[in-house]
Amino acid sequence: MKSIVVLHHLLFFFLLFSHVSSWKKEEFRNCNQTPFCKRARSRKPQHCNLIATDVTINDGDLVAKLITPNRFEQNPDQNSTDFQPNPLILSLSVYQDGILRFKIDEDPVYNPPKKRFQVPDVVVPEFESKKLWLQRYTKGVIDGDSGESFFVYLFDGYEAVVRSDPFEVFVREQSSGKRVVSFNTHGLFDFEQLRVKKEGDEWEERFRTHTDSRPFGPQSISFDVSFYGADFVYGIPEHATSLVLKPTKGPGVEESEPYRLFNLDVFEYLHKSPFGLYGSIPFMLSHGKSHGTSGFFWLNAAEMQIDVLGTGWDAESSIVLPSDQKRIDTLWMSEAGIVDAFFFIGPKPKDVVKQYASVTGTSAMPQLFATGYHQCRWNYRDEEDVKNVDSKFDEHDIPYDVLWLDIEHTDGKRYFTWDRALFPHPEEMQKDLFSRGRRMVTIVDPHIKRDDNYHIHKEASKNGYYVKDASGKDFDGWCWPGSSSYIDMVNPEIRSWWADKFAYSEYVGSTPSLYIWNDMNEPSVFNGPEVTMPRDALHYGNVEHRELHNAYGYYFHMATSEGLLKREGGKDRPFVLSRAFFPGTQRYGTVWTGDNIAEWEHLRVSVPMILTLGLTGITFSGADVGGFFGNPDTELLVRWYQVAAYLPFFRGHAHHDTKRREPWLFGERNTELMRDAIRVRYTYLPYFYTLFREANVTGVPVARPLWMEFPSDEATFNNDEAFMVGTGLLVQGVYTQRARDATVYLPSDHTWYDLRSGTAYKGGKTQKVEVTDADIPVFQRSGTIIPRKDRFRRSTVQMENDPYTLVIAVDGSGSAEGELYTDDGKSYEFKEGAYIHRRFIFSNGKLTSVNLAPSTSKFESDCTIERIILLGHTTKSKTARIEPSNQVTDIELGPLQIRSGVRSTVLTIRKPNVRVSDDWTIKLL
Ligand code: GLC
Repeated sequence: MKSIVVLHHLLFFFLLFSHVSSWKKEEFRNCNQTPFCKRARSRKPQHCNLIATDVTINDGDLVAKLITPNRFEQNPDQNSTDFQPNPLILSLSVYQDGILRFKIDEDPVYNPPKKRFQVPDVVVPEFESKKLWLQRYTKGVIDGDSGESFFVYLFDGYEAVVRSDPFEVFVREQSSGKRVVSFNTHGLFDFEQLRVKKEGDEWEERFRTHTDSRPFGPQSISFDVSFYGADFVYGIPEHATSLVLKPTKGPGVEESEPYRLFNLDVFEYLHKSPFGLYGSIPFMLSHGKSHGTSGFFWLNAAEMQIDVLGTGWDAESSIVLPSDQKRIDTLWMSEAGIVDAFFFIGPKPKDVVKQYASVTGTSAMPQLFATGYHQCRWNYRDEEDVKNVDSKFDEHDIPYDVLWLDIEHTDGKRYFTWDRALFPHPEEMQKDLFSRGRRMVTIVDPHIKRDDNYHIHKEASKNGYYVKDASGKDFDGWCWPGSSSYIDMVNPEIRSWWADKFAYSEYVGSTPSLYIWNDMNEPSVFNGPEVTMPRDALHYGNVEHRELHNAYGYYFHMATSEGLLKREGGKDRPFVLSRAFFPGTQRYGTVWTGDNIAEWEHLRVSVPMILTLGLTGITFSGADVGGFFGNPDTELLVRWYQVAAYLPFFRGHAHHDTKRREPWLFGERNTELMRDAIRVRYTYLPYFYTLFREANVTGVPVARPLWMEFPSDEATFNNDEAFMVGTGLLVQGVYTQRARDATVYLPSDHTWYDLRSGTAYKGGKTQKVEVTDADIPVFQRSGTIIPRKDRFRRSTVQMENDPYTLVIAVDGSGSAEGELYTDDGKSYEFKEGAYIHRRFIFSNGKLTSVNLAPSTSKFESDCTIERIILLGHTTKSKTARIEPSNQVTDIELGPLQIRSGVRSTVLTIRKPNVRVSDDWTIKLL
């Protein structure tokens, strides 16, 4: 017995050790080693012969049967003699804003061996209530067709067409007949039906030392989707690749793996790889000059692989499509589940993200503190270390809001406990931090140590709350604590039990200023196939792990977030960071891009990764500043702070083998540079918070690719080195060593103001601008007004009553507009209208503050505006008059930014001292 234990320990250390070395390609399957992917990828256009029949309207949906007359010849994988394909059932619904949803599943009348998994808990109930009850369709024949087509009105000039033979679904513009997006145009559809195992059926799949029993045989689904009027496609995170999704297959294309969506714990991942990382969102957007933007979302939680097909891939096909529309074809393959698909017609980029958000929800409104800077490390060792790090921030005048504790703070990786030798007084420690307005975050992972003395394990095993292995026993895998089991978060009862564990009485040592980090929730299983859970493991409701793998982490995140909500009676907005994600994650918290590397290329790729997350619903995301693995050289570290300061989630983090890298450890000059970068972030917090509110209401992300703001400017379509923060700021990252200048494309015919010098640049051009070590180029667009808070404080709490600065950058006609949103920064009272929301309008030399909040708003603030900066406004005025107070204030030259080294002076209205909550005007005299 003892020797087995020792062996286990040895194995564990071996796994641990091998786990932390660099990326091991052979640990993960490629498409060729994944039978459903290999089969689907080798199919030629017009592979399927699918016909839609028996079309009717049923319960407000258009319903049809899909039959495959000669499937045997088509699918060699299902050719056992007694296999008969059953007709499938199609149901198609129309929702508000022209959203088309269609499902394809097995028909229950043929008694499939079990119900295929359809992902619940992602589509928000409000969306379901926006279904338009179909009453009729019109019938017609499309030229050259042997069967009829059915036309359903969608929205403002768009219609959906279901064509019967060959079966195809598409959306087109009614007047021109131009297509927008289509399904199965190339006949690549395939749907393997569940089967009952008979003697002689060999369905097991082997990968390395693992065998997957596949009790229902192959059950994959694949099909093609085409985007019309498309120059590029984007989305489907998480991959460490460019913003634009490059073709993976086709003539003249350097063939690569398809983009894989399979949540995996990938240590030291490569940049420029279509390999699947920690989270998955099967939502793709296309954008082009002619149609604009459209989108396709497949709600499915099984492993997915997606090819972007290069032009000419279908040369052998006889399908004729209009040649006047540029098109991008894609191939979607999933191991299991059903087709539950959505078409979004746009046509503007923001329309598509709003349409997607109407299905999966907008992002939760973060607490104000969470938008500040976070300091993390694996690990801050003990209370002394925490105290020391915290006080050094103050000593060096660097603001920060949250200090994080990684796995070593626990008693032997038993979450919800403390290593009492290192952290004897956790409550006092948190209270002490909070006395300076700071919060703490601790890590809680989903693997539970199998230790009979650990209360979580005791309860979970007694109640049957663990995921089961294929034989029905509690699944036992290796993770940080050694032998571990995994809570089955798919069951709502178990989620509720888990949520209760965050009560202060249960999580001993926690206080109201403690928030949570969920890691390893792909889930990571060190000794599992591809470092995760076997696909034939079983969840609540007899759902196989393969069917919901990509949603496991989502459910864990959901349950934790519900726990934080519960512990304060639903009053405190939760903060939970998660590594795994799925559509809908935005409603529960924040994500980060996992274990990146301290290399310039990882800094560069963090930008498109975060922009992609924003496009696909998850705006509150970031990358480990400095890079998780390895030691960044000082210049890289400083640049990383400078870029990340403008990205939504801003946290420094590092692996335990790296050297300490808190911002004061690299000499005075570098401390100053990192301090400046963090301070800049704090000055823009009012702007960020306003943008987070916009994301919360509409789904439009905080950090945006340039093309989202300039959809008709082709030069922006594949730019992923620069990004917009809201409509007002353009940030140009610097990703190389010793950069002395940067090439910046400034879109459209706006003027752009360099926020370092105030220099105006003409847009619609590429400009070469100077770069020093002090900062990266950031521009404010003409026509915008941006709110800031320029006083230096130690954390967001200290800034609460600080006055604002407004930066007005006027356009050619001397006008500008902007908004400010603020509330109590923590509760849900804003949902009851307790907030301030202002629109500032500047025109004809007059600034007006207009109320956008309900007049009954109970939120009060005494904050005033202490300075108004005018960029691009030429005036001889020396004074301005404030109404209704009728006071007059001076206009002088003042600083553009208050920080070291920035000396430029700009026209400034000094001390208008109007309250942000009031209506007023300020007129230049
Ligand atoms: C994982 C996380 C990393 C964390 C480490 C220890 O590698 O991605 O951020 O520090 O686990 O918990």
